[in-house]
Amino acid sequence: MKTRRKIEIFASPEKLAQKSAEMISEKLSGILRDKNRASLVLSGGSTPKLLYELLASEGYRNSVQWDKVLIFFGDERCVPPDDPQSNYKMAYEVLLSKVPIRAENVFRMKGELAPAEAAKEYEENIKNSLGDGTHFDIVLLGIGADGHTASLFPESTALSETKKLVSANYVEKLNAYRLTLTLPAINASQNILFLVSGKDKAETVKAVFDGTSDPPLPSQLVYADNAEVTWLLDSPAAAFLSNKKTT
Ligand code: 6PG
Repeated sequence: MKTRRKIEIFASPEKLAQKSAEMISEKLSGILRDKNRASLVLSGGSTPKLLYELLASEGYRNSVQWDKVLIFFGDERCVPPDDPQSNYKMAYEVLLSKVPIRAENVFRMKGELAPAEAAKEYEENIKNSLGDGTHFDIVLLGIGADGHTASLFPESTALSETKKLVSANYVEKLNAYRLTLTLPAINASQNILFLVSGKDKAETVKAVFDGTSDPPLPSQLVYADNAEVTWLLDSPAAAFLSNKKTT
């Protein structure tokens, strides 16, 4: 199927973070007009840090109904939550410890457990909190220069998962396991936002949009049957895209 992708390009990482915060806040408000909870999946890595700082700033701290938000993670390194590599640690320090979110509504992937056990438990958490067959409302994703997203790395076994929502994925190049949402979990979401910054991603972004990679890059396999995939890029990351308009 042809993925419906919306692209917005920004002159700086700061403008990218501002627009991302606006979009997330608006989407959460819209979702919470129709139901009393909204699920937001946070991405890891360094790109979203500016966004998380913004969401924790006074304007958004007060405008988002954080007490009705459920927080999940797209992936996690197999480390304890206080490890510098932990995606949870960064999100907690920069955002979750600064907004009035209920502790019971923050669903951490337990990187300190055996990977298979952590993946199984997280899948149960998702089903218990969202119910079988339901979906995430908003999923944030980044991409690596190799085209990975979440911890779905090229040629890794989790890429071919068609049923489970969470996988303990052994990543050859890292010589390590990662916990990750699978494509079925991501692609069932209502809103998917890729946040991409930096010239080191430009080649990969072009390859994703050209669709020239064989096999397809993991980021190319993210599409939503019932929603749009929005790519929010800064200019360096969009450098090789043709006919682009920068905001
Ligand atoms: C992770 C992420 C991963 C990340 C990309 C981009 O755990 O590392 O979930 O998918 O989004 O690797 O990372 P940067 O934002 O640091 O470039």
